[in-house]
Amino acid sequence: MSKYILPVSVFGTVFGCAVLLKNHVTGGRCPSKAKITGKTVVITGANAGIGKATARELAQRGGRIIMGCRDMEKCEAAAKEIRGKTLNPHVYACRLDLASMKSIREFAEKIKEQEQRVDVLINNAGVMRCPAWKTEDGFDMQFGVNHLGHFLLTNLLLDKLKESAPSRVINLASLAHIVGEIDFKDLNWEKKKFDTKRAYCQSKLANVLFTRELAKRLQGTGVTVNAIHPGVVATELGRHTGLHQSQFSSSVLSPFFSMLVKSPELGAQPSIYLAVSEEMEGVTGQYYDVMTEKEPAPQALDEDVARRLWEVSSRLVGLEEEGGQSDKSKPPAEVQNKTAQTDPAQIQRQSAGAAVSAVGL
Ligand SMILES: NC(=O)c1ccc[n+]([C@@H]2O[C@H](COP(=O)([O-])OP(=O)(O)OC[C@H]3O[C@@H](n4cnc5c(N)ncnc54)[C@H](OP(=O)(O)O)[C@@H]3O)[C@@H](O)[C@H]2O)c1
Repeated sequence: MSKYILPVSVFGTVFGCAVLLKNHVTGGRCPSKAKITGKTVVITGANAGIGKATARELAQRGGRIIMGCRDMEKCEAAAKEIRGKTLNPHVYACRLDLASMKSIREFAEKIKEQEQRVDVLINNAGVMRCPAWKTEDGFDMQFGVNHLGHFLLTNLLLDKLKESAPSRVINLASLAHIVGEIDFKDLNWEKKKFDTKRAYCQSKLANVLFTRELAKRLQGTGVTVNAIHPGVVATELGRHTGLHQSQFSSSVLSPFFSMLVKSPELGAQPSIYLAVSEEMEGVTGQYYDVMTEKEPAPQALDEDVARRLWEVSSRLVGLEEEGGQSDKSKPPAEVQNKTAQTDPAQIQRQSAGAAVSAVGL
């Protein structure tokens, strides 16, 4: 019996310390107390998880909040709850299915017609490791929703963002981008065997590449764009993974796991920081690991890949045919993005990659 006492007490102590210190080591709260009265914020996927917590805190700070969600019942309920808790009446539910270009275009039209300004766009919605589903337009679900949907939405709202400058775009990426690869020959998993984890990582790498290319194209407009990894957060994101699907892991492991990861309120702090803080004014093209600026993985710094992904994405979502939106934001050739100066050797891709595969985010 006594031989178990030491390991059990060591485990108990380590676990207890991890639980007590997790909020501290995972980044804490946004230090800025800035109010955003008079500002309009559009947040995608705002009915659950990080998006809902972000909407609530930004409503608390006085913003006019447009929640773009695919399920109107959940969205109305979340908006009502936020209005009740924050006593801010300007929180609105609006239909947006990022797996449908038609829905994205309708949503953007509504925003352009009904809103005087868009000060902050938070591209938050995401789907992780779902089966080989396709969007309404035939794209791989993870690439379609996480990247192409937000790519189209952002481009459609660019004029509004420019009119409202200084304005900010925030893209929820993930540490998972570090093991991502962009396969231009088969972006939608039509030729090779579908791999749900690699599909997620590709889509999250696309988020970082999009951020950097957009920042270049928006130089001088007063619109900034940055990407974040919010940390590991207890949300519904893992709904398609093994952790949520087996009885044992959802009833035994999941509660254990939840104690070690951040709450959605803390998970929302990086988005809030990028959206409101004074020190983020004018900062663009960067990648934040929680609230600390970090260099992304080497493949996220490849300017040719970023430009090519932009061009391919424009064609896929039909922006090129309109001859407008995507080309309007082209930068002058001489504009150099300061973020491109980098030393890839600094990135410890392999060890970090192993950490990402372990968590799957
Ligand atoms: N949680 C983490 O540890 C973590 C780590 C790294 C990065 N992230 C990123 O953080 C973002 C937010 O994730 P979360 O953790 O808050 O996940 P979540 O709780 O699953 O919330 C995701 C949100 O996206 C919405 N969504 C999914 N597909 C959509 C579509 N086709 N159209 C519109 N909305 C759609 C969901 O709506 P429904 O409720 O209708 O499904 C939900 O509101 C994601 O981009 C994710 O990749 C999260």
